[in-house]
Amino acid sequence: MAFQNALEQNDLAEVKQIIVDCEIVCPVSGSKNWTDVRQFNLMFSTSMGAVSEESNIIYLRPETAQGIFVNFLNVQKTGRMKIPFGIAQTGKAFRNEIVARQFIFRMREFEQMEMQFFVKPGTEMEWYNKWKATRLNWHKALGISSDKYRFHDHMKLAHYANAACDIEFEFPFGFKELEGIHSRTDFDLKSHEKFSGKKLQYFDSEDNENYVPYVIETSIGLDRMFLAIMANSLVEETLEDGSTRTVLRIPSPLAPIKVAVLPLLKKDGLPEKARQIMDTLKLDFMCFYEEKDAIGKRYRRQDAIGTPFCITIDHQTLEDNTVTLRQRDSMEQQRQNVDELSKIISQEVDIKNLLKKLM
Ligand code: GAP
Repeated sequence: MAFQNALEQNDLAEVKQIIVDCEIVCPVSGSKNWTDVRQFNLMFSTSMGAVSEESNIIYLRPETAQGIFVNFLNVQKTGRMKIPFGIAQTGKAFRNEIVARQFIFRMREFEQMEMQFFVKPGTEMEWYNKWKATRLNWHKALGISSDKYRFHDHMKLAHYANAACDIEFEFPFGFKELEGIHSRTDFDLKSHEKFSGKKLQYFDSEDNENYVPYVIETSIGLDRMFLAIMANSLVEETLEDGSTRTVLRIPSPLAPIKVAVLPLLKKDGLPEKARQIMDTLKLDFMCFYEEKDAIGKRYRRQDAIGTPFCITIDHQTLEDNTVTLRQRDSMEQQRQNVDELSKIISQEVDIKNLLKKLM
């Protein structure tokens, strides 16, 4: 209780005294030789204004959420939205992290993808549980093994939340937070109302009442998700013949290049036919064209950057309009008619197929 009071009153000398009186030992070094308790700067500050004496101190945002709260009523009114509805945004966030490391896991400047979902007060727990399930399913829909994910429910809640959890992912350095899901009550909208003097309320025409909505937030670091996918996908495989290959088993809808178009030889009209096929496919898919080096080497290069399909054009293509379609993960090769390619590829790479798994 005394410790909590000292923290609430920002009495850092008292916090130190309690630590000393209770003879608290550092769990790592075993030492009791504590420095004074100091306040960390959690945010980056800078100044706004042309003349330094008249400039204001401002802070770089540590989350993207507040822009959404400020815009809540604009979006609701112009979009004629009815509660429940959500606003999602991706943008930069900045935190003065004391220890920024583990590659791009923890950075001082990073990218967040956040959604604020506005609900009627009293229904927030139902929506919180729904979003927990939906977000976990979204991660699983990427095809990464389910045992790489787990929930961590928060026991100690932030001042604005009445429920919170993380979706943790098993990174190479252990299970760590990938995404946060928070029930933020009406704390943020009410604070903006208080400090701006402007109402941020919704008129519920069905119940004929005004209220400040409650908010469920889903928040994921774009960089952290990129790291999770890369860490899970990049593998060195030993093949049956004892040779090795580097393959990026990235979920196909996320692969930067979907198809590589490869004429077997640089002559006999094969490049022209390959270009023709590429011209049709490139309207639907990000394609890569390559003539250089032996076909095996070209397959390996595409494996390493995660291209789900390679198409090889050979002499038979000129006769019967079929190509060899090679799959990245299985390395299976099938003869397919050129007219079928678009359909087969889109079944695998279209983000629609991933989203359908959530319905
Ligand atoms: N608006 C709520 C919020 O910001 P958070 O749990 O502090 O919640 C959400 O952050 C997500 O942002 C985290 O789950 C993580 O993916 C990402 N994130 C947070 N700090 C980060 C950092 N220093 N570097 C990279 N990503 C970070």
